[in-house]
Amino acid sequence: YREQLPIDKGFDNSFALMTEGYKYITNRRERFGRDMFETRLLGGQKAICFAGKDAAKVFYNEEKIMRKGAAPKRIRQTIFGEKAIQTMDGASHKHRKALFMSLMSHESLEDVVNITRNEYDNFILKWEGMERVVLFEESKQLLTSIACKWAGVPLHKNEMKQRANELAALFDSAAAFGPRHWRGRQARNSSERWIKHMIEQIRSGNMEVQEGTALHEIAFYRDTSGNLLNSQIAAVEVINILRPIVAIAVYIAFCALALHDYPEQMNKIKEKDDAYDEMFVQEVRRYYPFFPFAAARVRRDFLWNGHDFKKGNLVLLDIYGTNHHPDIWERPWEFNPDRFTDRNDDPFDFLPQGGGDYHKGHRCPGEWLTIEVMKVTVDTFTRKMEYEVPKQNLNYSMTRMPSLPKSRFVMTNVKRKL
Ligand code: HEM
Repeated sequence: YREQLPIDKGFDNSFALMTEGYKYITNRRERFGRDMFETRLLGGQKAICFAGKDAAKVFYNEEKIMRKGAAPKRIRQTIFGEKAIQTMDGASHKHRKALFMSLMSHESLEDVVNITRNEYDNFILKWEGMERVVLFEESKQLLTSIACKWAGVPLHKNEMKQRANELAALFDSAAAFGPRHWRGRQARNSSERWIKHMIEQIRSGNMEVQEGTALHEIAFYRDTSGNLLNSQIAAVEVINILRPIVAIAVYIAFCALALHDYPEQMNKIKEKDDAYDEMFVQEVRRYYPFFPFAAARVRRDFLWNGHDFKKGNLVLLDIYGTNHHPDIWERPWEFNPDRFTDRNDDPFDFLPQGGGDYHKGHRCPGEWLTIEVMKVTVDTFTRKMEYEVPKQNLNYSMTRMPSLPKSRFVMTNVKRKL
């Protein structure tokens, strides 16, 4: 059967999408009473927005859906970079994805845990001497330090703040207009120059880098034709490791917010074991807004659920909406880590970092690393330190992308627990 989908009227709804943010798709799904509707985006192009487990299965079917031409220029000029893995398809994508996945072995995840513990030790010492700690700003630096150590990128202490601000500007600018967007464009130029120079130095033998690190593996990676990446693209991919590690700062702020807003969680975590820490982390990733949606294009015509998907049409998978979908989650608007007790993993119904298969598709290769860093964070905040949360504006916006507590989460009287 075929049927006409509900249409979000208007010649181009890009502005509404950017300004309504996380709820753009959910709002219309609720209004139309359907999980799928049609709209116009990116200069009036037809786009299908959909949510839910079955939609995710279609979205991650590479026979039907491709990434080529899906990311608009303003995204490539900020968060992604030009010719990044996010924009690739088929055999060349799988080959480059294997490079990213090879960095996520059990041992290198253990390394990141140890590095993270060490950095928290250093930062708690620093925070003990500060009157006011703005957690999001501090986490950016903490994570820049973790990212560079783990990836094999040398970082001098006195450039930490600059690099942290640049890497954060890359993800802060993608959905922004005006100065916030331009800061991202400048940050992209500056950080690509920084890493490109390093790649050239490594290849010419003027700089040493430890084997197995992201910097080393990307510098010497050969594509399906046996060629090295040009140094610009190599820099883009190293930044594809550094930037999202720094983005975990958003989740650190939301972990702290959840511990504050749901104080019973603090005790529960202390009483329970590791398994509960992970359930708490999963619920933070489900509950709070981070990535709003993933975008792709129809690869070839197909009929699904009554709709004719036409080659080239844009397709947006509602990530935030699927993580709150009433068919998947009981009382989706409640924060409740217990919902992850005995939950069967399903690659299509819990999508904070995308869905489907890591190796074959575009699902985030950094998902395990993110969970590990968040678990160390929860352990640190509940068992390793004490702090007070003074009165401040902790509201977070549903239209600013990425969202963050307004005050960036301020802590006072930070003390190490002995
Ligand atoms: C892809 C989210 C952390 C590296 C993605 C996607 C999402 C995502 C939604 C796209 C999925 C899709 O297009 O279908 C996040 C969030 C993170 C995070 C919310 C938390 C901060 C990381 C980390 C790394 C990383 C720590 C690396 C160390 C990547 C790369 C891709 C990706 C390289 C592109 C994969 C591909 O196109 O095949 N991430 N990510 N991310 N992420 Fe993450």
